[in-house]
Amino acid sequence: MCESRAPLIRVLLVGCLTAALPAATPAQHLDSLLARMTLEEKLGQLHLPSANQRANREQLDLARRGLAGGFLNVHGREAARQAQQAALAARHKIPLLLGLDVIHGYRTTFPIPLAEASSFDPELVEAAARMAGREARAAGVNWTFAPMVDIARDPRWGRIAEGSGEDPYLGSVMAAARVRGFQEHVLATVKHFAAYGAAEAGRDYNTVDMSDRTLRDIYLPPFKAAVDAGVASVMTAFNDIGGVPASGSAWLTDTLLRREWGFDGFVVSDWTSVLELLQHGVAGSRAEAGRLALTAGVDMDMVSGIYLDSLAALVRANRIPLAVVDTAVKRILRAKVRLGLFTDPYREIPAPNANAARALARRMAHASIVLLKNEGNVLPLARSAQTIAVIGPLADNQLEPLGPWHAQGRRQDVVTVLAGIRAHVGTSAQVLHAAGCAIEDTATAGFAEAVAAARRAGVAIVVLGERHDMSGEAASRTSLGLPGVQQRLLEAVHATGTPVVLVLMNGRPLILEWAAERVPAILETWFLGVEAGSAIADVLFGTVNPSGRLPVTIPRTLGQIPLYYNHRNTGRPPSDSDKFTSKYIDVPVTPRYPFGYGLSYTTFAYRDLKLAAARLGQRDTLRASVTIANTGRREGTTVVQLYVRDEVASVTRPVRELKAFQRVTLRPGESRTVELRVAVADLAFWGPERRFVVEPGSFRLFVGPSSAEGLETRFEVR
Ligand code: GLC
Repeated sequence: MCESRAPLIRVLLVGCLTAALPAATPAQHLDSLLARMTLEEKLGQLHLPSANQRANREQLDLARRGLAGGFLNVHGREAARQAQQAALAARHKIPLLLGLDVIHGYRTTFPIPLAEASSFDPELVEAAARMAGREARAAGVNWTFAPMVDIARDPRWGRIAEGSGEDPYLGSVMAAARVRGFQEHVLATVKHFAAYGAAEAGRDYNTVDMSDRTLRDIYLPPFKAAVDAGVASVMTAFNDIGGVPASGSAWLTDTLLRREWGFDGFVVSDWTSVLELLQHGVAGSRAEAGRLALTAGVDMDMVSGIYLDSLAALVRANRIPLAVVDTAVKRILRAKVRLGLFTDPYREIPAPNANAARALARRMAHASIVLLKNEGNVLPLARSAQTIAVIGPLADNQLEPLGPWHAQGRRQDVVTVLAGIRAHVGTSAQVLHAAGCAIEDTATAGFAEAVAAARRAGVAIVVLGERHDMSGEAASRTSLGLPGVQQRLLEAVHATGTPVVLVLMNGRPLILEWAAERVPAILETWFLGVEAGSAIADVLFGTVNPSGRLPVTIPRTLGQIPLYYNHRNTGRPPSDSDKFTSKYIDVPVTPRYPFGYGLSYTTFAYRDLKLAAARLGQRDTLRASVTIANTGRREGTTVVQLYVRDEVASVTRPVRELKAFQRVTLRPGESRTVELRVAVADLAFWGPERRFVVEPGSFRLFVGPSSAEGLETRFEVR
């Protein structure tokens, strides 16, 4: 970025202008440059090929001819320098955007975004993104394809791992935090625009169909938050929405994104999503697909090659106005100005201190761990004088904790659970280890060793879950139990009578019914990155008191899906006393674990919920105060959550909507009164007149430790 360390949006203007461009205002530079470019060179700026860590001979030649606007998957200082040198050898010396999927870390792998969202700590999440962006920029990357902000209500969909879960408010807060963090060093990209997480049946890339209201109230807010935070680029999604593919939708990428939201960055397609307009059946040729996408507002074509190879003829035949091409090119050039590339295309910043990065990753991992169950206070473990059995295919595994999309993260950098526990106990306890089985096969030969270890131990830490590639892209699952024979291993270890602590590593909510009923302690750790084992051991032994809260609902059965907390009430809300109400005959309608839920090693009491005012005007701010006491014997952090319910409106409204939250750390016996504020304007919903409204009337207010419990009061909006 430019010299200033200020976030990208603030440095938009000054001092990043180029030696290759005459001294003038950015607009005049770009206009004069544009006037000197051929049509092919213009279309070249809209072309984004993918390399394999370094540009190949053909790609370097393309750059030398000014026929690439950037590359994805070029990284490493030498490879980045080589690519930029090729571009600077072209007629107009236009530097390249060098993009990479730095989703949760470049070399230092942080917890997956779903885990980070469990922290409910936007400041920490922002710091993690900043560190990732810095590592990436030091390696020559100047653009990341993150944050992914897709709301996900269906855990069959593997990409739930990459986002912030099911809630639009939490998703919006995390989206803005990540944009701010990344854009201190690289351009960020909010993706996948839009509603990709609503893929029918949780099947990746599948069609999406929803009401305008659900789109506006649930799936779009995190994108709007990213735009309001100054995100530099938007990536369009693979899916169609109600029959209109997102990568060919003028309503989405022009009317909504630019005219309504005022987005002034650039839009990039997803991988071949321009070409896929053919498969969608809305274009009959490559050229037609390209015309549809570019005129809809998709400025850059990732990997299809259509813009470069097929659009010049359409422009010359007046099938695409040259002005459309020029507008797209200027957006790409402005992004390069914002990055300071014309001034310093190499901009090699020093890599951050690796230990500092790991320390931050460990802090992020601590905050991401959710304690789901702790019957009889099995946890935290006593450190001394006992034998600990560490069992399971993920106990000593250095690959899976990296998660499904880990850029340059390396398995050798990962601290496993076994290593973390051993480092924690030293010689004060005996640590036994047995994998017991693989993550996903049918072999049970290892059970005996695992059972024997459990029998010899005072406690069995059983580390189970998914492979890193069982979530993420193209990784939808139709069953959400523990893969392979892991469940049988868990039952075999449990049958020894040794107390079991289940440690889960997974990229999506899993169905945990057997364990939830029988295993005394359960930690949901998702995939925590390089410091997974250290952070998990810190929590297991009580060095750290877990504070994570679920950003997604954990259902009881697959048959309940989709299941989410901010559902509508229906005309027949479920009632055990009335058969003819909305419920199942075989399973409760409630989740196993609700949104916002998480336990601690201490306990908290909430009391004295008060409102500064109970009648509010449209321009007012709701101010709710509550007193929280730590009623246990350990310092701990609770996440106080504020939900509202619009009781009577012109359309049906959710039974709960998260509108504010705050982490509160209290010493044993300490109590504190905290105030949460919500602008009345933030209670708006997409009304019948197709605009956001706050309708006068009564609202219920809930303040508590999750979406399923808390103190309640009411307020009125005039
Ligand atoms: C992928 C993903 C997208 C990613 C892009 C570049 O298919 O959908 O999230 O940023 O291609 O790797």
